[in-house]
Order: sequence, then structure tokens, then C-alpha cells
Amino acid sequence: LRLDPAAKPDVFKRDPAHLPTVALPDPERDAGPGLWATVAARRSVRHYRHEPLELSELSQILWASGGITHSSPGLSFRAAPSAGALYPIETYVVANRISGVEAGVHHYDPAGHRLLLVRSGGCGRELAVAALGQEICESAGAVLAWTALAERTEWKYGDRAHRYVYMDAGHVGGNFYLAAEALGLGACGIGAFYDDEVNGILGVDGARETVVYMGAVGRKR
Ligand SMILES: Cc1cc2nc3c(=O)[nH]c(=O)nc-3n(C[C@H](O)[C@H](O)[C@H](O)COP(=O)(O)O)c2cc1C
Repeated sequence: LRLDPAAKPDVFKRDPAHLPTVALPDPERDAGPGLWATVAARRSVRHYRHEPLELSELSQILWASGGITHSSPGLSFRAAPSAGALYPIETYVVANRISGVEAGVHHYDPAGHRLLLVRSGGCGRELAVAALGQEICESAGAVLAWTALAERTEWKYGDRAHRYVYMDAGHVGGNFYLAAEALGLGACGIGAFYDDEVNGILGVDGARETVVYMGAVGRKR
């Protein structure tokens, strides 16, 4: 296998510099409940209280699912494993009710551990319609939407990348579920949605970058 390093796609989606940003607090790296207890307790939760999520909670979930856990020069490793360390999954936060975060669609920048506002204004209702009427898109404090840029993985794996991208998304989603449970929050994976509608809400083109999975998170009722 010959790889052209000059053709390696950027593993970060670079946002325009003018977008409003929200700095996320540093994630907790060692405290927290034990892994076994968290695995044992985790369930999909679809009923949420109305109270907002805290920014620290969102920060922890983003870091544990899509964040950077180890950096070395020219290469950073993330919380969830990824075929070839090519990280084709991008994370968006559809913010419904999060303290200190404007309602709207934010893109998560793992390198800066921050959010960039790509669309202002609550769109939980619109997302619920795009997800076949699933109310959790509106009642959750936030819905994370994961898109894939398959080109990153294709650079190394060609057609095989199309399997790997979904495997990668599953790892991110698994960490998301466990992080939410570890924080005492309720989460639910969402695979049922109209791709085009969700892509429109996120502002991604649906060709080069397309939604693959979502996850709702809120305070358990
Ligand atoms: C890929 C995937 C897609 C899913 N899509 C939905 C969905 O659209 N709506 C929903 O309410 N639950 C969805 N779920 C949650 C499953 O229904 C749930 O994981 C399953 O019933 C097992 O229950 P548990 O998660 O509590 O263990 C999805 C889960 C996965 C892994």
C-alpha cells in the first residue's frame, strides 16, 4: 500500500474565523464513577426534564466522544478509536437548552475544544420533524449530530472506508452513551432520520459531508 502524504485530507474541519465561539471548560480526566457501574446502568433514555444542561456536562460528553486525549507532533489521538487514525466523524451540537450556549447549531472543534456557532436559533422542532417526528430531538437539552467525511478514510482504505466510517461513528456513539450515563444524564441514539433534512439543518452538503448518526441527551426525568 502506497500512500501519498501530500494528498492526506485534513482530519479537522476548519471553520471560518468569523464564527462566534464558545470555549468549553477543561474536561475531567480521572474522577467519575467506575466503568463497570456505568456500563451496567446505561439504558436509552427518552424522557427528559426541562432543566438545561450545564456547559461542563456538554464539554465532558464532547470530549469523551469526539475529543482529543493525546497529542504528539503532527498527530493527535481522540477518545474514540478510528480506522487509520483518520477521524472522519465531525460532531455538531443542536443546542436546545444548555446554560451559556446560544440555541442553534454549533460545530465542535476538537483541536480547540470549543464550539463554533454555524446557525443561530432553536431548531429542535425542525430536527424532530427530520427525525420522523421523534420528540426527543426537541425535549433533549442537546442533540449531537455526527457527520462523516468519508474522503479522510478513503485516502488510505479506498472503498473499504465506507464500512470503517460507520464503525467509527459507532465508537463515538458508544462513548457518548457512556459519558452521559457517567454524568447521570439520559441519552438515546437516533438512527431514524431523513438525511437530506438533517443535512439541511446542519448546513452540510450531503455529498462530501453527510449525517450518519445522532444522539439526544438531557436530564433524566
Ligand atoms: C444505531 C442506533 C440507532 C438507534 N436509533 C434510535 C432511534 O432513532 N430512536 C430511538 O428512540 N432509539 C434509537 N436507538 C436506541 C435503541 O432503540 C436502543 O439502544 C435499544 O432499544 C437497546 O436499549 P438500550 O440502549 O437501553 O440498551 C438506536 C440505537 C442505535 C445503536
